[in-house]
Amino acid sequence: MDATTTRRVRLEAQKGRTLFKGSSRADTWGFNQPFLGPTLRMATGQTTVTEVTNSLNEPISVHWHGLLVPGSVDGGPHQPIAPQATWTPEISLTQPTATAWYHSHIHGATAKQVQMGLAGVLQISDGQDDARELPSTYGVDDLTLVIQDRRFSHNGQMDLSIGMAEQMTGFLGDTMLINGQIGATAVVPRGVVRLRLLNGSNARIYTLALSDNRPMHLVATDSGLLDQPIALTSLRIAPGERYEVLVDFSNERTVTLLSAQNPNTGMMGGGNQSNGSFPVFPFSVDASLPTRITRLPTALGGSRPTADASNAKWRRFSLDMSMGMGMMFRQSDRRFSINGAPFDMKRIDFNVDLGAVERWTISADTMMHPFHVHGAMFQVLTENGQPPQPQNTGWKDTVLVNGSVDLLIRFDHPASEKTPFMYHCHILEHEDGGMMGQFTVG
Ligand code: C2O
Ligand code: CU
Ligand code: CU
Repeated sequence: MDATTTRRVRLEAQKGRTLFKGSSRADTWGFNQPFLGPTLRMATGQTTVTEVTNSLNEPISVHWHGLLVPGSVDGGPHQPIAPQATWTPEISLTQPTATAWYHSHIHGATAKQVQMGLAGVLQISDGQDDARELPSTYGVDDLTLVIQDRRFSHNGQMDLSIGMAEQMTGFLGDTMLINGQIGATAVVPRGVVRLRLLNGSNARIYTLALSDNRPMHLVATDSGLLDQPIALTSLRIAPGERYEVLVDFSNERTVTLLSAQNPNTGMMGGGNQSNGSFPVFPFSVDASLPTRITRLPTALGGSRPTADASNAKWRRFSLDMSMGMGMMFRQSDRRFSINGAPFDMKRIDFNVDLGAVERWTISADTMMHPFHVHGAMFQVLTENGQPPQPQNTGWKDTVLVNGSVDLLIRFDHPASEKTPFMYHCHILEHEDGGMMGQFTVG
């Protein structure tokens, strides 16, 4: 591959109409299509000029969640694209193979804009998947599943309203969408299939398992491949997170990906939930499709971080919610904050030296929050003082905080006061409500 190739990619945010269920179409938004956006593929070592045009009537942005790029092209809330305007960032990637995504990030409007459809998948490839014997035939043995929940009103429209319990939990739908569709199924070849899982829901946390309890072999976390697969029968995925797993379909049996109920629901006393699990996505096998990979790879060529935190500067963050007076709050109240301070576009919370390694301790005591940092990937050092659970031993950019986590983060990409990096809860209603901060690197 030629390291100097420059590609151009066009994205146009536009209105659309999408038939989800029944006979009437819902008003939706998408990039280049009625709902959601195309899967973008970018190669390590390549530069991509993306031309993002906003044909909607309100400002949007396009944040590259998972790309390790400078603040100047990060697409956060300080880089709104006005209606009819075009934003043309030049993205040069040096990071290895990973599944990332892109979504709008306008402060106060992210939840609504992502729900309407302003999100898509971005795959980074270093071109070595064949050598690793990883399934890589897009849509055949390499499937991307964007997992989202929605609610629909009787006229077929998406219902974006927030009930009383959701004022705290964030939006929780009652209908699953996979890649923007209700009731989709996958037909896969015999053999080993790669599933790239993205939780693109606003607030729902899924605890995934296969219906016959066969293992999911974890091969990649948010920011890249592991050193070797980890067999799991249960995998929790919170909003913003990505996990890649291999599933063996050699026995040709039908199987369904299931999820347990949202762990944040019960304790908040809300929702429609029973305790059982619900189907997320069914698979069946077509033995006439050509099988490419029949064995699990042993060495994936990725890595698990093992740095030493002893000299790192230490920062502490508490993810705060005002509780106990739910009835008294209006939606406009800013009840979510970090270290007691709700997000303020005009306040830079701190600066990190370029190249510094820092230890960040994140704590959350009232519910679970997926904590995300822009512009860097991190190592989970501990969860509640213990070694991280297996699914959190790879490189990450988002981690579900259930109590406290200790992270080690190296900041290799600059961000100025004009376009700082964000850190926030990826429950989008919490982020919009103020559980976000911003920092510069330099
Ligand atoms: Cu996926 Cu700051 O977001
Ligand atoms: Cu991000
Ligand atoms: Cu949160």
